[in-house]
Amino acid sequence: MTKPNKKTKSNKFSSGPCSKRFGWSSSFMEESDLLGRSHRSKEVLNLINAVTGKSLELLNVPKGYKIAIISASDTGAFECAMWNLLGPKGIDVIHFEAFGHEWYKDITEQLKLKDVREFSAPFGKLPQIDDVNFDRDVVFTLNGTTSGVCLNSLDFIPQNRQGLTLCDATSAVFSIPIDFTKLDVTTYSWQKSLGGEAQHGVMIFSPRAIERLESYSPTWPMPKIFQLKKGEKVLYNTFEGSVINTPSVMCILDVHNTLCWIEKQGGAVSMQKKVAENYEVISKFIEHSQYFENLCKELHNQSKTSVCFTISEQWFKKCNEDEQRSFINKIASILEEEKVAFDIKGYNSAPPSFRVWCGLTVEKSDIEILCKWFEYAYETAKKSL
Ligand SMILES: Cc1ncc(COP(=O)(O)O)c(C=O)c1O
Repeated sequence: MTKPNKKTKSNKFSSGPCSKRFGWSSSFMEESDLLGRSHRSKEVLNLINAVTGKSLELLNVPKGYKIAIISASDTGAFECAMWNLLGPKGIDVIHFEAFGHEWYKDITEQLKLKDVREFSAPFGKLPQIDDVNFDRDVVFTLNGTTSGVCLNSLDFIPQNRQGLTLCDATSAVFSIPIDFTKLDVTTYSWQKSLGGEAQHGVMIFSPRAIERLESYSPTWPMPKIFQLKKGEKVLYNTFEGSVINTPSVMCILDVHNTLCWIEKQGGAVSMQKKVAENYEVISKFIEHSQYFENLCKELHNQSKTSVCFTISEQWFKKCNEDEQRSFINKIASILEEEKVAFDIKGYNSAPPSFRVWCGLTVEKSDIEILCKWFEYAYETAKKSL
């Protein structure tokens, strides 16, 4: 195969931190006079509330839900929710990739909760979830960023559940439609779909999650950055822009700029259409390619944002894991040397594979170009064996 003659406009396909949108510039920061101001000042508080307000509106979150910015990115937000809310009920944990497994370990090894049931599946598969009991609390990840598998519909969650649903939705929010009436806790970080900066997490609580917060105080110690209550009283101002510790005003300005851009592009629905079109390009490429196959074999369970795929050829399947990783690395290195794509190797603990972020900050035309380069890089790497 001849070398493709076109290169990608942006070569950033990392699944986190994800690419900034094409054309992003930091000029809005220079125009703002909020850098160096206190996060407790009226002006910065207004900015924080503009970010949280726009987020709820763009995501079509029902009235009565509350939103807070938490430290330590999505991990901080999800652990904050688990540390505050879990304990009074038994818990069903659905996990099918690296982070969901971490949340299971948090619950069993850190919080040491006993009545916990595990519904898990290896990379590339979704677990059997028919027996999940929504009268218990249910903890799950929506999109497996590390496995390329996604629970693409929330129809399995009943409206009349007695337990809470706690959902780590970090690589799904803004990218795929989400029915928030099915979720009591949703967390995400700006560094994923929005191409924002890391270290700030967002936590959205339903009225029932707020009720749990009001009525239940866990017995375990609560680190300062997770404290949503003082004694028995809920610190409601945490959900009104009063961040627990000092946030980065620069990161908040950045995400505000991106949310305004999304509004101008037609809102979350048009972003979700863009993601679906991006996914369509790469999934068709993988489907028709003689060299590659998606890690997730069920089409309707495939992630639209973090697309994970490997080599389909028999000779590759017969190699041991080290040989497979070395071949994957060879292809990734060719794409890096050509400056066509960076950060596309699969997650460390995933099977040897590629992972290409196809979210709303990535252009379809770049994915089309990248697919051609993948074929070229495969053939070049194969020749050198
Ligand atoms: C599903 C999932 N949960 C949590 C995280 C951790 O996110 P953060 O680094 O923003 O805490 C990631 C990061 O890739 C993720 O994919």
